[in-house]
Amino acid sequence: MGKIFVTGAAGFIGSHTTDRLLAEGHEVSGVDNLRSGHRHNLTEALKSPSFRLAEADVAEAGVLDCLVAEFQPEAIIHLAALVSVQESIQDPALNRRLNVTATELVAAAARAHGVRRIVFASSAAIYGDTTDLPISEEAPKRPISPYGEAKLASEGILLAAAAAGGLTVRCHRYFNVFGPRQDPASQYSGVISIFDRRYRDGKPVTIFGDGQQTRDFISVHDVARANVIAATSGGLVSGVANICTGRATSLLDVVAVFASHYPAVPPPTLAPARSGDIVHSLGRPERARAELGFAAEVPVAEALGELIRAG
Ligand code: UD1
Repeated sequence: MGKIFVTGAAGFIGSHTTDRLLAEGHEVSGVDNLRSGHRHNLTEALKSPSFRLAEADVAEAGVLDCLVAEFQPEAIIHLAALVSVQESIQDPALNRRLNVTATELVAAAARAHGVRRIVFASSAAIYGDTTDLPISEEAPKRPISPYGEAKLASEGILLAAAAAGGLTVRCHRYFNVFGPRQDPASQYSGVISIFDRRYRDGKPVTIFGDGQQTRDFISVHDVARANVIAATSGGLVSGVANICTGRATSLLDVVAVFASHYPAVPPPTLAPARSGDIVHSLGRPERARAELGFAAEVPVAEALGELIRAG
């Protein structure tokens, strides 16, 4: 069993990844500044003697170096980020600090302290608005937001560090991740987290467009499993891979599942499509299967059911 360092451990994906690492018997050291993460996401993890959490900002010089030097992990799973595309547009300097500078500091700390592997939270946002579906890793990279640009730059920083030797880097290009602990706070949060909150409150959801737009929605449990595989499996080589299901789910499909659980909630309100919205997004999952042995397992309807039943 290994020692794994997780940045953004109190976040949506970070907390599920931490839970899974602990369940598999690893020792985990997490860091989070609790800006968008929450200590309550780690309620179970914090009961484990194999887990510790530092409350600190990984983009601040010296923080990562100090924590990595002390813990001496075999791998770093770098999930700390500014997670809102909208916020990256409003505050590009903050996006750069949290999504690029922090990555440089992760790479530097790994090299300074002999960490052998980094797993990085990249995003389908690096592809931009492509209509050539399903999207393969070879597709043109044309990010249309500071967020997407920063994720692409971070991949480059980490893969260059790996090319210098002694380090394996796996960049995970997540598609539309959903599940328990995702924050529905803003109108730009992930659509499923917003719908979940609205149905719980007994209020109708708003569908922008006709609801026939599709996304490659993937359960956070599958994403956490992909992270753990990439951090702990032997024999991996550096590279990038989509983390997706390869299956398209429409918003109407999603609404149908919620509606069946909440028959008393009024039907959705229809509103004009959001400007800049893409109609369809779908990833090719084959490379993750070939290079990591990872394939998504949780059907969307089942994961939605779990989310709806969760407290
Ligand atoms: C994601 C980003 C978005 C970015 C886009 C770039 C997130 C949460 N969103 O959007 O910021 O601009 O990639 O390609 O990371 N919808 C509704 N009702 C709602 C909320 C959303 O109908 O209350 C619709 C949206 O208009 C969209 C679909 O649901 O058609 C999915 O929205 P979202 O979850 O924001 O994901 P992306 O569109 O992939």
